[in-house]
Order: sequence, then C-alpha cells, then structure tokens
Amino acid sequence: MARNILVVIGSPRRNGNSAALAKQVAAGAKEDGAKVETIFLQALNIQPCTACDACRKKLKKDCIIKDDMKALYPKIKAADGIVIASPIYWFTVSAQTKLFMDRWYALGGDDGYALAGKKFAVALAYADADPFSSGAVNALRTFQDAFNFIGAEVVGTVYGSAWKAGEIKKNKALMDSAYELGRKLAGA
Ligand SMILES: Cc1cc2nc3c(=O)[nH]c(=O)nc-3n(C[C@H](O)[C@H](O)[C@H](O)COP(=O)(O)O)c2cc1C
Repeated sequence: MARNILVVIGSPRRNGNSAALAKQVAAGAKEDGAKVETIFLQALNIQPCTACDACRKKLKKDCIIKDDMKALYPKIKAADGIVIASPIYWFTVSAQTKLFMDRWYALGGDDGYALAGKKFAVALAYADADPFSSGAVNALRTFQDAFNFIGAEVVGTVYGSAWKAGEIKKNKALMDSAYELGRKLAGA
C-alpha cells in the first residue's frame, strides 16, 4: 500500500491544469488515509544532470550537485507512491519535469534503482483535443519506458485537454478519475 505519497508538479502554473489534476489525485489518496506531500518544481532550483558520474563512482552517494534536489532525494526515497503531474510542452513533458527526471540517474547504480518497486501515477494536461497530436502519447511512452527501466509500477494515468489555467476543473469526469486514481494509488 502506498501510504507515503509524494506529488510532484512540473508546471510553472501553480493553479494550472496539471496541478488541478494532481490536487484531485492527492485528495483521493488522503481520503484513503495516505500521507501526502506536494512539491512544486518551479519554485525549486533544480540543475540539469551533468553526467559527471560521481553518483556511480562513489556507490550509495547522492548526486554531488548542490541544489534543491539535495532535499528532494530523501523524500523520493522515503515515498512509496509518487505522482508526476506535467503539462505537455512541445509534444512531451515540461522542462521542469524532465530536469527532475534526469536527476533520478543519481538514484541508480550497479544494484539497480532506489525507485524500484515504487508505485507511480501520472497526470497530464495539454491544449490540443487529441492525445496523439498534442504529444501526450510521447510523454506517456516516456513514462512507460522510464518506469519499466527503473523497475517501478504504473498504477494509473489521467490526462485531458484544457488551455487556460484551471479550465480542466470543468471536466468533471476527468476530475473524478483523478480522485479515483489517488484512492487506487493509496490502496496499491
Ligand atoms: C511552452 C508551451 C508549449 C506547449 N506545447 C504544447 C503541445 O506541444 N501540445 C499541446 O497540446 N499543448 C501545448 N501547450 C499547452 C499546454 O499544454 C496547456 O495549456 C496545458 O493545459 C497547460 O497545463 P498547466 O496548466 O498544468 O500548465 C503548450 C503550452 C506552452 C506554454
């Protein structure tokens, strides 16, 4: 059961559409008794991975970059459920989300990834009505491959179309699905 859940929002819009979906997932998880912490990536200083490989040379050491990932790594390790919420930017995840994901590299080593066995849920928002032409499918495919690679489990995904910040809340069926995904994640 995912009782300790980290919700990571990769949109620069605090009250945007992916954040609205993430809030619903969090509400569903809390309803099921899970402890939920939400992280807003835009507010953090997260530098790109420099491929220095220090994390691999000194096994069991975290990334040597001194930025806000230092505080996030322990939270990621402690979580048993992780929700990634992202807008679609240029036919895939936002840069904020991608920077965060690249830094997962430091959680890997010869004995696999510290993310192995964790339960993930994904929430995506995009403007185009079609998940294919919006690029949402590219993001979903990225998550599918990444979770498969690190040995994590995808509990579910929610995604839908909206343009203006918060507009997605009008899509009641989607908001309900996001809430149910939170409950599913907490019970998974
Ligand atoms: C820089 C930028 C790039 C975007 N690229 C796409 C895109 O490739 N496909 C799409 O359907 N929508 C695109 N959009 C629209 C956003 O995905 C859409 O407004 C979404 O609802 C934003 O989610 P948010 O409110 O969580 O930030 C883009 C928006 C911006 C600002």
